[in-house]
Amino acid sequence: MRVVAGPRSQRLAFRVSEELDAELVRADVSRFPDGEQSVRLRGDPGDRVAVVQSTRTDRDLVTMMLLVDAARRQGASVTAVAPYLGYARQDQVFEPGQPVSLAAVVRAVTAQGPDLVTVDPHTDPSDHGDVTSLSATPVLGEVVEPWGPDLVLAPDEGAKDRAAAVAEIVGADHDHLVKTRVSGDEVSVEPHSLSVDGRDAVIVDDVIATGGTMSETVSILKEQGASSISAAATHGVLAGSAVSRLLSAGVDRLAVTDTLETSFSEATVAPLIADGLRQKVTG
Ligand code: R5P
Repeated sequence: MRVVAGPRSQRLAFRVSEELDAELVRADVSRFPDGEQSVRLRGDPGDRVAVVQSTRTDRDLVTMMLLVDAARRQGASVTAVAPYLGYARQDQVFEPGQPVSLAAVVRAVTAQGPDLVTVDPHTDPSDHGDVTSLSATPVLGEVVEPWGPDLVLAPDEGAKDRAAAVAEIVGADHDHLVKTRVSGDEVSVEPHSLSVDGRDAVIVDDVIATGGTMSETVSILKEQGASSISAAATHGVLAGSAVSRLLSAGVDRLAVTDTLETSFSEATVAPLIADGLRQKVTG
């Protein structure tokens, strides 16, 4: 297997290629005068190739589709790897007239032929296409363990299994908070049944996007007297002022994985993705 380095995930693609001892295929992406993307593979994708490209933006998604098409035209069997799969949080029709964006995005990629591999999607996308979801919980456990937390918290009930699994890895207690979304980027969070007073708490989540969820949670835990509050998430979208919101809220440590390359990416999901791809090859 070879690995195509999509422009959004160049370092991670390189790491995956090293894990697999596979050739890395460079992809050049530029713009036509009208603004459309011009994509070109600068190497042979071989018989079987993984195109690694997180789809954080619309542009990233189009790039992924073009890279997949380019590789298929050279005769390669393609697995699309979107370590961060954008649009996954619109996973149902919340208001009449809305799409299920997750379904549309999965179809857009897999309809071309490839299967899709992703990491910690907000919702299991396998109803919408041939998708393998990998769990980054062990990677989050590695990140969090040196911080020595005694309490691992999920910011909402939906994330409580992840918090429980990380807590088990690091040997800590776990609990979850109750969240209400007030507006697009404002979230209020209330405690469920926990005491954080005097404890070293870490909050774990799948994604930090605007930072609203995490910063509100940090503020509340500070008010409740936690000794320290750290935050870890698989995907660091960190949109807009997310980082300053978190720092202003008083977060003591912040770490994400490299599904999106940020200055807070402290752990890599490359071995996880390489294992997932190996299993596909060996069946
Ligand atoms: C929500 O259910 C997710 O698990 C995240 O907590 C949420 O999407 C994070 O978004 P934001 O950073 O914008 O609050």
